[in-house]
Amino acid sequence: MDSQLTYNYKVIRQFTIMTVVWGIVGMTVGVLIAAQLAWPALNFDLPWLTYSRLRPLHTNAVIFAFGGCALFATSLYVVQRTCQTRLISDKLAAFVFWGWTAVILLAAITLPLGITSSKEYAELEWPIDLLITVVWVAYAILFFGTIMKRRTPHIYVANWFYGAFILTVAVLHVVNSAELPVSLWKSYSVYPGAIDAMVQWWYGHNAVGFFLTAGFLGIMYYFVPKQAERPIYSYRLSVVHFWALISLYMWAGPHHLHYTALPNWAQSIGMVFSLMLLAPSWGGMINGVMTLSGAWHKLRSDPILRFMIVSLSFYGMSTFEGPMMSIKTVNALSHYTDWTIGHVHSGALGWVGLISIGAVYALIKPLFNREFYSVKLIEVHFWVATIGIVLYIAAMWIAGVMQGLMWRAVNSDGTLTYSFVESLEATHPYYVVRLLGGALFLLGMFVMAWNLYKTLGRSAETVPSTAAQTA
Ligand code: HEM
Ligand code: HEM
Repeated sequence: MDSQLTYNYKVIRQFTIMTVVWGIVGMTVGVLIAAQLAWPALNFDLPWLTYSRLRPLHTNAVIFAFGGCALFATSLYVVQRTCQTRLISDKLAAFVFWGWTAVILLAAITLPLGITSSKEYAELEWPIDLLITVVWVAYAILFFGTIMKRRTPHIYVANWFYGAFILTVAVLHVVNSAELPVSLWKSYSVYPGAIDAMVQWWYGHNAVGFFLTAGFLGIMYYFVPKQAERPIYSYRLSVVHFWALISLYMWAGPHHLHYTALPNWAQSIGMVFSLMLLAPSWGGMINGVMTLSGAWHKLRSDPILRFMIVSLSFYGMSTFEGPMMSIKTVNALSHYTDWTIGHVHSGALGWVGLISIGAVYALIKPLFNREFYSVKLIEVHFWVATIGIVLYIAAMWIAGVMQGLMWRAVNSDGTLTYSFVESLEATHPYYVVRLLGGALFLLGMFVMAWNLYKTLGRSAETVPSTAAQTA
């Protein structure tokens, strides 16, 4: 039985290719804004090139276009393979792909024009919000419908993580986007003052927890065992991991609002739940890494597996750092500084970026039935990306702690020791190093694109690959 006929691979191929394309677009904008922070003149006095417009373009492109396409591709692949059945509808699958592409294109047009709701990670205006809702509902029907017609008695744990991601993002999006339109491209949030802030960060933090974490844990639970050719280290731990993670994440949002008008008790709840989150996060990381028991030697020869395992180390690092930053006294230093940016990118580049790249490489053979043009280039990509991340996050950590300390330093007469401009001057060299790190990560993406372009140009293997035959 030819699995390529049995399963709908078309939509997965489309999303897989677009993961690389949007990754390059989003990260190019990231490199540009990193350069603007070092040399502000690079906005060339053009309104649509200003930092304030390009920054949300970067975050939307990397999270929802690059990360989103990786999640669509892998979830729709994993659900078919583990349920041993085709997606319920090819038309619905095509609608999800083209609908999501339309959302991304609308974002790419409206954000540089300055059309924004001003809510972080939810900047898109109400007509686009409506489109997102329709596409997301179609995606949910496609995913859960396929689960319902599965030919296996069991629902593999990766699908639980994907399912939680789909359901939660639907709820978050609808609640946080409740807004009153005043014109075609302008609306105002229905929530007042501090409630608006709380709803926004309930959304923002769970976007991290479910979009940038739960979905990618779905990737981990399928692709790490597959690539290592070992069963998951502990299936029981994966179930505990799932329930603990989804029940704790919901309550941690207030750690984004320490020392604000939010009631103090709410801030404390956010801090306590964030500290508790360390346990399931590390449980999941250990489950992934230990899957390599007895197969550690594969790391020497398989660069794709290396992408995945190093991504888990970054996941471990950022989920240790996050709970620490949620402690109020630590947050008093870290908030508003580049320490946050370092934390974000150790999660975003290290965890989300590397696991997505690993999964895309892992999908190429089953989807396109071709040998890689160059495994050496995957190796090169791995090293360029890893060095890039280390430069990026080390620069931001040093800059962040330095800024925090400079801003709070006072002289014996109570006046500030440093002016803000002095702290900016001191930060400049670190911005240049961050730019270099980001440029290296982007270079790795170009190496990947070239390798895949050459791989897809090769003729398909006549014998279907073993990876394509087994679920
Ligand atoms: C070449 C790679 C990248 C570069 C050079 C880059 C650069 C930047 C820069 C300069 C900022 C603004 C920082 C500031 O306001 O001080 C930023 C923000 C951000 N980036 Fe990236 N980025 C890259 C990749 C990514 C990826 C892959 C993701 C997610 C998957 C990501 C997610 C974010 C987020 C969420 C923010 C907002 C952080 C916050 O508000 O605290 N970035 N990035
Ligand atoms: C146990 C897990 C985690 C906890 C408890 C946590 C906690 C925190 C804290 C306390 C902040 C700083 C808030 C502030 O001062 O404004 C923060 C910011 C952030 N974290 Fe995490 N973090 C965790 C994991 C992650 C991961 C894995 C990622 C990415 C994949 C991530 C992405 C972000 C982003 C994007 C922000 C910046 C939000 C903004 O201000 O725009 N976090 N996190």
